[in-house]
Amino acid sequence: MDTQQFIPKSLVNNTTKLSFTWKTPSNIALVKYWGKTEPQIPKNASISFTLSNSHTITTIDFVPKLNLKTNDINFELFFEGKKKEDFKPKITKFFERIIKYCPYLTTYNMVIHSENSFPHSSGIASSASGMSAIAMCLMSLEKSLSSAELTDEFINKKASFLARLGSGSASRSIEGPLVVWGNHPAIKGSSDVFGVPFPYEVHEVFKNYHDAILLVDKGEKQVSSTVGHDLMHNHPFAEERFKQANENLAKISKILQNGNLDSFINLVESEALSLHAMMLTSNPYFILMKPNTLEIINAIWKFRNKTGSKVCFTLDAGANVHVLYPANESENIAQFIDNELSKFCQKNHYICDVVGLGAVNV
Ligand code: DP6
Repeated sequence: MDTQQFIPKSLVNNTTKLSFTWKTPSNIALVKYWGKTEPQIPKNASISFTLSNSHTITTIDFVPKLNLKTNDINFELFFEGKKKEDFKPKITKFFERIIKYCPYLTTYNMVIHSENSFPHSSGIASSASGMSAIAMCLMSLEKSLSSAELTDEFINKKASFLARLGSGSASRSIEGPLVVWGNHPAIKGSSDVFGVPFPYEVHEVFKNYHDAILLVDKGEKQVSSTVGHDLMHNHPFAEERFKQANENLAKISKILQNGNLDSFINLVESEALSLHAMMLTSNPYFILMKPNTLEIINAIWKFRNKTGSKVCFTLDAGANVHVLYPANESENIAQFIDNELSKFCQKNHYICDVVGLGAVNV
């Protein structure tokens, strides 16, 4: 894989403070990434809807260092206005991983201010939106330091490449409405090292798709994604799972083009349950679903049987349930959630989201 293209060649010297702000979304995978090798190479291809309302806004101030002899990476981190020391190790590791591709990092003292649109303790993964926002700020810096003109296409590609090194799913949070990450024969231009927008015409029914995120459990997860990915090494069903995911990706590529919602529902729900089946069958095994996760799944199945609705669910690595439905059902599903599902959420909380287009400079 050609990663040399991401090493900047001609950078100018800058002595003034520069500041950039980006708003980047979270995403929800339809075919899941679960299992990877170094350096953040996925074991199978994945695809996600980019979200819109669930996002991170990050500003980075780049202040040129007075003493250029020090090669350390210096940054201060503020989350929702407060200094956040416990987020620093993950970001330090991220910066160390990308230094080869962003050598200018060591020439600045950085101040990072970040905030999420969703409550921090909502159980919604913030690493995708958080890492992609930092990556976009770095690419804005690189653009202003580059003597060569950088195209938007290159900026997005490299931002996704960098974001991936912070958190795999973050590679899918630069563009929208559908992004594939992982080399796959059915997806033209796909790559293991960056995400690409789904390259084919998407059926009308998937435009403006809705995602209501039901907040079943807002607590810290007992098992992090990093540990979960790790447990896929030596997992008895790993190889079959990677094969299944890649087959599902080929299938969903067709479904997204032909608009067959029954096939979509079947594939997306099966992916969610297969992901959790990997957790149940890891060693050590673990369960991230809660009783209310199952209550919601059963209520969705019952509602679908009764009404013929095309609503379905998916799960990420947690207890919360993403309820997916086409825009023309939004009123009915809003009622269904209020009447029958919100009671299973902590404090009846859920977030209404919709498919979005990716990172925005603010
Ligand atoms: C279940 O991207 O959070 O949400 O690369 O270790 O940061 P790291 O993992 P992460 O894993 C996401 C897993 C998932 C499925 C998905 O988004 O594809």
